[in-house]
Amino acid sequence: MTVHFKQDTPDDSNRLDGMKQGVLGKSIRRVEGMAKVTGTAPYSAEYPIADCAEGVLVTSTITRGKVVSIDKDAVLSMPGVLAVIDDPAMTTRAAQGTADEAPQQEPGTVCYWGQPIALVVAETFEQARDAAKHLPINYREDPSAPLDPQAVEAEEQEDETVRQGDLDHAMATAAHSVDVTYTTKGHASAAMEPHASIAQWDGDKLTVYASLQMLNYNISELADALGMEEENVRLVSRFVGGGFGSKLGVSEDVVAAAIASKEVGRPVRVVMSRQQVFQCVMRRSETTQHLRLAADENGKLIGFGHHALVSNLPGETFAEPVLQSSHFLYGGENRDLMLEVARIHRMTAGSVRAPGEAVGMPALEGAMDVLAEKAGIDPVELRLKNIPEEDPEEGLPFSSHKLAECLRQGADAFGWDSGPRSPRHTCEGEWWVGTGMASAARVHNIAEAKSRVTLKADGSAVVETDMTDIGTGTYTILAQLAGEMLGLEPAQVLVELGDTKNPRGPGSGGSWGAASIGSAVYIACKAVREELGQRLGVGETELELKDGKAASGESLVSLLDGNDLSREGHYEPGDIKDDFTASGFGAFFAQVRVNRFTGETRVDRMLGAFGFGRVLNHKTARSQCLGGITWSIGVALTEALEFDPRDGHLVNCDLAEYHVPVHRDVPDLEVVLVEERDPAASPIQAKGIGELGMCGGAAAIANAIYNACGARIFDYPMTPDRVL
Ligand code: MOS
Repeated sequence: MTVHFKQDTPDDSNRLDGMKQGVLGKSIRRVEGMAKVTGTAPYSAEYPIADCAEGVLVTSTITRGKVVSIDKDAVLSMPGVLAVIDDPAMTTRAAQGTADEAPQQEPGTVCYWGQPIALVVAETFEQARDAAKHLPINYREDPSAPLDPQAVEAEEQEDETVRQGDLDHAMATAAHSVDVTYTTKGHASAAMEPHASIAQWDGDKLTVYASLQMLNYNISELADALGMEEENVRLVSRFVGGGFGSKLGVSEDVVAAAIASKEVGRPVRVVMSRQQVFQCVMRRSETTQHLRLAADENGKLIGFGHHALVSNLPGETFAEPVLQSSHFLYGGENRDLMLEVARIHRMTAGSVRAPGEAVGMPALEGAMDVLAEKAGIDPVELRLKNIPEEDPEEGLPFSSHKLAECLRQGADAFGWDSGPRSPRHTCEGEWWVGTGMASAARVHNIAEAKSRVTLKADGSAVVETDMTDIGTGTYTILAQLAGEMLGLEPAQVLVELGDTKNPRGPGSGGSWGAASIGSAVYIACKAVREELGQRLGVGETELELKDGKAASGESLVSLLDGNDLSREGHYEPGDIKDDFTASGFGAFFAQVRVNRFTGETRVDRMLGAFGFGRVLNHKTARSQCLGGITWSIGVALTEALEFDPRDGHLVNCDLAEYHVPVHRDVPDLEVVLVEERDPAASPIQAKGIGELGMCGGAAAIANAIYNACGARIFDYPMTPDRVL
C-alpha cells in the first residue's frame, strides 16, 4: 500500500519533535562506517563478478570534427583483445548534461579534446589499455573550434535576466558605489572514486554496478541510450566514493560497459583513469562577474547589479547558475542581473558541487567587503542592514530566514572584532595576519521521492529506496528517522539504498537528498504508525512508541503477531515554491596569514554558522559543512582548471596538479549549526545542507587576505603570484 502526499501547504505539525525515541538529530556515527574503513563495502568496480572482461575507453585527440573510421583490425589481433566498441549510443552520451537534461551532441561528432569515442575490451586491463593506446582513428577535423569564452559572442539566458528600476542612475547618485569585476576558474569534482561500471546481461535483462548519484534518472538515461525498456535494466550503486555532481548523469563507462558486455557475451568492467575522469566527466565553468552595488550614506543598498559570463559546449542547456542567490540575498530596488553563456569547445560544463553559488557568492561577497570599506561600516553590520524583508524580485516571503542569526552567532563564536578595519594591522614575523567574513546562501531544492518501510515480525525495521549515499550519511539519517517514528534504535533499522529494484528515491544532488527522501520515509512511517494505532485503538497522532513498545506497554512484536507490516511513502513537492522563496543561509569567518615575501596565504582558522532547517544528525550535518568549508579554501587559494589555449585540452588532469586542499592546508574548522524548523521546506521541516558550506566561504578568505596585507584581488584562486 502506497501513501501519496503532495505538499501544497507548509506542514506546521512539528510531529517529529513530539516523538519519544530521541534519536533524530543525534550525533550518530555512520552506520556503514565500519564497512567502509575495513574495505568490505563494495564500490562499483569491486563487485566479485566471475569471468569479467576489462574495457578501456579511447578518447579523442582532436578538439572538433568527425570520426571517419576506426581501424579495429589493427588491435583485434593484439593479445587478449576481445572487441572494439564504437557504438554511436556511447558517443551520444559523450557530452553528458546534468541528470535531467538530454545530451545535445550528435553521434560520431567530436566536440572537445578528450571526449570518449571507443572502448577496447580485453581479457586483462593491461591488454585493453595497450590496445587502446594503439587503436588507429581517422578524424575529419573542423579547424574552427573557439576555445576562449571572451572571444566569442555570448548568448543571454533570458530566464535569468532581471531589470528593475534604474541601476545606472542609482550608481551615479549613490553615496557609496562599487563597480568591480571578479573572475573564477573552472573546478573539477575530483571525487576519490573514479567513474566505474560492471555490466552483466542475463538474457535481455541488464544489471550495471556503477558509481552514480541519481539512479532514478540514470536508469532512464541508460535505457534510452540502449533503446531498452526500463524494467529490463537494474542499476546498483550502494556505495559511492564521492560525486559532487560528476555522477549526476550516466557517464560513458556505464553505457560502454553495457554495450560491450552484450557484444562479448560476458560481464565487462570499465574503470575510467584519473585523467579520463578529469578530462571527460564535467567541469564547472569559469566565470567573469561584473558586480555593481549602490548604497545610501548608511550603507543600505539602493541598487544591485550582477552580470555573469560562463561557458559551455554549443547546444548544451546547462549554464552555471551564478546568480541563483543574488536574486534574493540582499535588497536594493534598482536591479540589473544577467547571465550569458559563451559557446566554446572545452569539455562539457555541468554541475559541480553547489552549482551557481559556489562561484557567484565568492564574487558577490567580495564586492560587499569593498562596499563595507567604502561606507566605513563593519562588514557584518553591512550584511545585517541589507537583509530584505521579502524576496526583492518576486515579492514572496521567505520560508524561513536565518542569515541574521548566523551572522550574529558566527561573529560571537569566532570572536569577530567589529572595530575599525584597516589592512596591515598585525604583522607576526614574516606574516601579515587578518580576518574576513562573508554570508552564505544556497537555494533550497526538493524532489519527488518514494520509499518502502517494513516493520518486520521480529520488531526490527527495513527502509528500502534506490536513493544513494554519496558519502553524505543517507544510510544513517534514514535509520534515525525511521527509528524515531517507529520507536526503535537506529541499529534496529536496516537501510537498503542504491538499487533500482527498490522504490524510486530523489537521488543525491542539489542538496535535496536528505529532505526529499527523509520526507518519503516519514510518510511511509506515518502509514505504518496509523496501522499500529488502529490495532491499539488510538489515533496515529496519539501513538507513542519507544524502545519497541507502545506507551500502553504492548510490544511491536506482539502487535505484529508474526506478520511483517509494510507501507510505501510517496512524497511529491507541490506548488509551495510559488508561495515562498526558500534557501539555506549562513556566515563564514576566517583568519589568514599572508607571507610578506612569498605571497603565500595560510588559513589560520575558519568558522561557518549555518541555518538550514531541522538537523537530522549533528555529526553528518557538521561533516557536510566541514567538507564545504574545505572546498571554500580550495576555491579561494588553489583550485583551477587550466586549458591549453591551442586545443582546449585540460592540462592539470590529476590530483597532483589540480590542487584540492590537503591536511596541511586545512586548519581547525568550527561549525555552528543554527537549528530551526522550516515547515514550508519539507514535511520533515529540513532544508538542504550538502552544498551550503561552500557557498561564499572563499570570499571570507579573500576579504581576510585584503585585511591582512592590503592586496585587493579580484581573481580566484588567490595564488601567491596574484597576492604579491
Ligand atoms: Mo550536486 S553538484 O547537485 O551533486
